[in-house]
Amino acid sequence: MVLRVSAGRMVGRDDEIGRLLRLLDDAEAGRSVVALVSGDAGVGKSRLVAEATRLAAGRGFTVLSGQCAELGDSVPYLPLADALRGAAQAGAVRDALSSRPALSMLLPEGGGGLTIDSDRSGLARQQMFGGVLGLLTELAAAGPVLLVLEDLHWADTSTRDLVTFLSRMLHRERVALIGTYRTDDLHRRHPLRPVVAELLRLPGVIAVDLAPLDPSALAEHLTAAAQGRIGATELNDIMARAEGNAYYAEELLAASVSGDRPEQSLPAGLAALLLSRVEQLSDAAQQVLRAAAVAGRKADDELVQAASGLVSTEYEAAVREAVTHQLLVPDGTEGYVFRHALLREAVYGDLLPGERTRLHGTMSALLADEHRLATPGTAAELAQHCLASHDIPGAFAASIRAGDEAERLGAPAEAHRHCDQALALWERVAEPEKTAGMARGKLGLLSATNAADSGDVDRAVHLLRRLRHALAALPDKGHDEVNLASRIGERLAFYLWTIDDAKAAAEAVEIAQATVDETPADPPTWQYARAVATYANTLLVDDNFDVVREQAENALAAARAANAPWVQADALVTLGFLSNREGRKCSICTSSATTPTASGTTPRRSRTASRSGSPASPRPPCPRWRCSSTSRAATRPWRSGTPGSSRSCRPTGSTGSSRAG
Ligand SMILES: Nc1ncnc2c1ncn2[C@@H]1O[C@H](COP(=O)(O)OP(=O)(O)OP(=O)(O)O)[C@@H](O)[C@H]1O
Ligand SMILES: [Mg+2]
Repeated sequence: MVLRVSAGRMVGRDDEIGRLLRLLDDAEAGRSVVALVSGDAGVGKSRLVAEATRLAAGRGFTVLSGQCAELGDSVPYLPLADALRGAAQAGAVRDALSSRPALSMLLPEGGGGLTIDSDRSGLARQQMFGGVLGLLTELAAAGPVLLVLEDLHWADTSTRDLVTFLSRMLHRERVALIGTYRTDDLHRRHPLRPVVAELLRLPGVIAVDLAPLDPSALAEHLTAAAQGRIGATELNDIMARAEGNAYYAEELLAASVSGDRPEQSLPAGLAALLLSRVEQLSDAAQQVLRAAAVAGRKADDELVQAASGLVSTEYEAAVREAVTHQLLVPDGTEGYVFRHALLREAVYGDLLPGERTRLHGTMSALLADEHRLATPGTAAELAQHCLASHDIPGAFAASIRAGDEAERLGAPAEAHRHCDQALALWERVAEPEKTAGMARGKLGLLSATNAADSGDVDRAVHLLRRLRHALAALPDKGHDEVNLASRIGERLAFYLWTIDDAKAAAEAVEIAQATVDETPADPPTWQYARAVATYANTLLVDDNFDVVREQAENALAAARAANAPWVQADALVTLGFLSNREGRKCSICTSSATTPTASGTTPRRSRTASRSGSPASPRPPCPRWRCSSTSRAATRPWRSGTPGSSRSCRPTGSTGSSRAG
């Protein structure tokens, strides 16, 4: 499927187009001007200039537009020839050319054209420069002129000199010159670099540097181009990967629409474009890039050197080369980043399978060092490298460590992912309990509680249900298993209770009760107290507040006996909530909320009523009571948001806290 993205509306770039329009104003007013438009490949230079060209043509400018090609110095004046050929159809340009044989030679019918093999062999430079200046001056006398020279990073020496010549010589002619070039191609020794530096010192020359498109502009562009053929998640993914680069985004979108799974590999055209820049480097520099690609977008200098296998002097020269060619960019004092994440992907995707495994293995060996592992995030990286180098025990141990670290850092989503990863590897490792420092069920519980803390309660419920069934199937349960079963049952009941669904609420009560029954009350433990406290909470969905009170008081006593003040706090909150309900008088209907049944709108009934749209009681409910009871939040005094968000307003370890315990 072909996406006609380039035909769409130009997005963003208001400032830049504004600057180019002011440039056209100047040219119209007889002040010659030059704009050098720069930016990374694909960022939108040509699109911007096309817009300016369109507007200029609409204002009556004579437009001459030519492009350089990636042909080195072999074809002099190529963009000029291109521009003249394109415009030669217009009468005024044709006439102006006919009186300038030096310029006509650039056209095929002029006898020279693209067969010229040296700017000195067939053309006298002065004649040529004079001819161009004369042509522009003649055209400008009749009306404003816009000369566009695209992709000057590929320009031949003569074209570069011509641009310098025109920038210096044009003053009062009604001429605007716009040149574009790629900044990512402009390595330190690139011949255009000193030319740009010189030009920008001239008063009539301005620089228009294009930054990546901002997210809203790119989203607008992609949404229009996708025409509803891909979903929001894919669009977001493309946006994240493209980092504001319109061309990359379009390539990824096209691949996504055609079902090429671009999340796994780069579209061929994009990979080829990116790799063409890598292939220009020496073998050593390419080796550094390969090692850096395996290290990640941010590559630690020491690691990359070790993985590249180069000795210091070779390595330093190779890194310098990669930096000079703008493929790597220094990042702080200790490493490098790829100029663009997709560049890393392209290099990574180009690795041979054995080479990739070997490099990942080297990275794992380097990272598996206590000093390095002390840095947060290293364990997670190590897990990835181990997996990619087929080191399952290493990946398992690193995942456990990464999960623990993420949990300590308050990153539950990541902790869940690492625990899940470790669980997936559990059976492929010798002595997993020893490495993990816990039983499989405990790791499952950790994974589930972290899923819930990250907001994914459904995932937590799914995991806990499976764990509960697995434990129930065990023939004999020792002390540890009984304890674990209690924690799993309590958490499952609690999470079910937080789902706003009557069936889940009923299941919560059932599981909470079963958990209390299965947890030994003696000797006193905080686990038993917690199970009772959660049971009391789940009972709040029913009308019988006396039962709730009784269970909350049991929980309070059990928590005191177990010296578990955080569970006491929990039970007290439930009791406080009941007192609050019982003591509240309704000023609107004058009925007392002390007996919810009397109001005709108990929490549960009113929830049903609010769903069906009809009150459960023939008596009109008091708006205020309804207001506080139409959602189960009213029966969960401390819970107002997601499970994750509730953590901040609860005492540590209380019902909302999901420590696996
Ligand atoms: N502001 C924009 N609005 C809409 N589309 C855009 C915008 N910028 C770029 N594009 C689209 O992104 C693609 C790449 O843009 P463009 O060709 O202008 O990049 P470039 O910077 O000229 O790249 P190169 O250095 O390779 O010449 C094109 O299809 C273009 O139409
Ligand atoms: Mg371009």
